[in-house]
Amino acid sequence: MKIYEKWRELNIDPKDINFKKIKLIKQISFPHCGNDVIECECEINNTSIINAFIKIERSTRASFETEVNHLKILIDNNYYKKIPKVIEDGNIEDKKYIVLEKINGSRLSDIFLEINDQELKNNYLVKYGKELATIHNIPGKLFLEAKQRSINNYPSKEKYKKFDATISKYIDYLIENKPEINYNTFIHGDFHYGNILWENENISGVLDWEYSGKGFKEQDIAWACILRSTQRFMDNISDIKYFLKGYNSIGSFDKEKLKWCLINGYCHFYIMNKEEKIYRKKIRNLLLEINKWNFL
Ligand SMILES: Nc1ncnc2c1ncn2[C@@H]1O[C@H](COP(=O)(O)OP(=O)(O)O)[C@@H](O)[C@H]1O
Ligand SMILES: [Mg+2]
Repeated sequence: MKIYEKWRELNIDPKDINFKKIKLIKQISFPHCGNDVIECECEINNTSIINAFIKIERSTRASFETEVNHLKILIDNNYYKKIPKVIEDGNIEDKKYIVLEKINGSRLSDIFLEINDQELKNNYLVKYGKELATIHNIPGKLFLEAKQRSINNYPSKEKYKKFDATISKYIDYLIENKPEINYNTFIHGDFHYGNILWENENISGVLDWEYSGKGFKEQDIAWACILRSTQRFMDNISDIKYFLKGYNSIGSFDKEKLKWCLINGYCHFYIMNKEEKIYRKKIRNLLLEINKWNFL
């Protein structure tokens, strides 16, 4: 597993936390993410040494309570196993923290840097999509409603049309075709490559369940397929098709709703990444392709 150097100052240093079940030995790695997350070597039960991830609330949108509660429901009901064990959770100042047992594995973005064989990449993408359908097949009734992001709705036309004519016709489409939204599927809520760990060509762990709960399944699928600015896959329709092939092997979705969610996501990411010309060009191409694709 890759070691990430410290890349910014932590808001709260794990050294300042009074842990109940672990003793901190060493801080090892600082993965890139929204909250302050640190891989640490710890002593547990005054005996064994383990590696754990300490996740401390940083993002103002964090929802650690949901993450802890939903991880518990998943384990207690035997719904899903590829999740980290919560060792403890608590508060430091006005922030929450969680200590999670480490799951071994690497992100697809790192794995794909080492692979040239397209067929092998496609196999990964099929498994990636199938895993999301596995999660969507978990019964939803025990879970709270998933937290919504404001960008799940279409961008406000008044605010954005003056910036960019390219995007304006897609925003028209979004406004005119907003689908009926059903919040009746258990969703992960943040199923993008940074939250999925792989080992020996299989998914070993799915992390970051803050946005999980009863939600809109096509939105969750789109979130996984929308290209992020530094991402080197899902930048073409073929990758998305392999993902959906895996999804369709054990699940189903509404094509028009997925199309709407994809176009909506692309528009928001386009608007948010004003300075990134190359990324924006890729998004424009994806929008063109998605617009004419019939999802067959
Ligand atoms: N239990 C774990 N095992 C292995 N890696 C983890 C674990 N928890 C977190 N990570 C690593 O830390 C990163 C950030 O954790 P995550 O829960 O996704 O926080 P954020 O909400 O800030 O994105 C993950 O993408 C992963 O690389
Ligand atoms: Mg994350």
